[in-house]
Amino acid sequence: MLGDFEPVTEVVRKEVLMGLQKPVKQLPCKLLYDERGSQLFDEICELKEYYPTRTETAILEERIGEIASHIGAGCLLVEFGSGSSKKSRLLLDHLPNIAAYVPIDISREQLMEVTASICESYSGLDVLPVCADFTGQFELPATENPVSKRVVFFPGSTIGNFHPWEVVNFLRGIANLAGQGGGLLIGVDLVKDPHILHEAYDDPGGVTAQFNLNLLERINGELNADFQIERFRHFAAYNEAMGRVEMHLVSQTDQKVRVDDIDVSLAAGENVWTESSYKYTLSRFFALAREAGFEVKEIWTDERDLFSVQYLTVSPTISDT
Ligand code: TRP
Repeated sequence: MLGDFEPVTEVVRKEVLMGLQKPVKQLPCKLLYDERGSQLFDEICELKEYYPTRTETAILEERIGEIASHIGAGCLLVEFGSGSSKKSRLLLDHLPNIAAYVPIDISREQLMEVTASICESYSGLDVLPVCADFTGQFELPATENPVSKRVVFFPGSTIGNFHPWEVVNFLRGIANLAGQGGGLLIGVDLVKDPHILHEAYDDPGGVTAQFNLNLLERINGELNADFQIERFRHFAAYNEAMGRVEMHLVSQTDQKVRVDDIDVSLAAGENVWTESSYKYTLSRFFALAREAGFEVKEIWTDERDLFSVQYLTVSPTISDT
């Protein structure tokens, strides 16, 4: 049974219009991940230039024994943005005794397919999918098995797609969800040579460009909008001062777009900001995690220090009784 908290069209409409009416136009990055967008993102993950997926997977594979012992038996494993669930399979292979696996994703189609295939591979595993924007409201499903603790799995450095000033609140929400004794296994991408970032985030084959432009197609399909895709160009660059890769759609002409009954004017050369991917130093992320109520228990990196996987636990709070 599916826990259904999928954002309704009315919410999508409000968020799109709010973003397009800002002085610097922006669109919510979560809208990149419709069915087509999720497929394109999986293609990005396979690109030789896109190091995050490969590097994170290698770290998980190499350290799976230690990771599994941190997570422990009887836990409720909750994955934020499960996508293709490829990395969770690695965990599930080494965690035979968990209470249940709860994949949460905004792409309903991918979530349903992945749930079916996980159930097939892991007979006896309680799989409880939730379709939701994990930054919004949703509830965890009830489980049949007793739960020793809750562990949230948040791979892919999706945390980098939040602005640093949003990170603490968001992590605090995860700490509340995990509760006392709970944990967070998180992938955090690291600051590195800008050349590596340029290659990874603007592949010569143009898959990232398609992924970015698909956002306009999605909005055209879901809302009553008339974006002309060929009048926009994909642009991605590393903003070194801000420590983030930025992805934009650049208007190629002066143009007017209609979204439902609202007109939006764009000037030639104007940017619509679609996603950012912040890169962290270990100490900077450590400080944010602490502020959010987590203790960093373990950090695993690859030999080139491109990427980190970290296990955090919820800091004990002083009881007021
Ligand atoms: N979560 C991915 C990341 O930050 C999303 C992504 C893929 C992305 N390609 C991008 C974000 C290009 C910004 C620019 O790596």
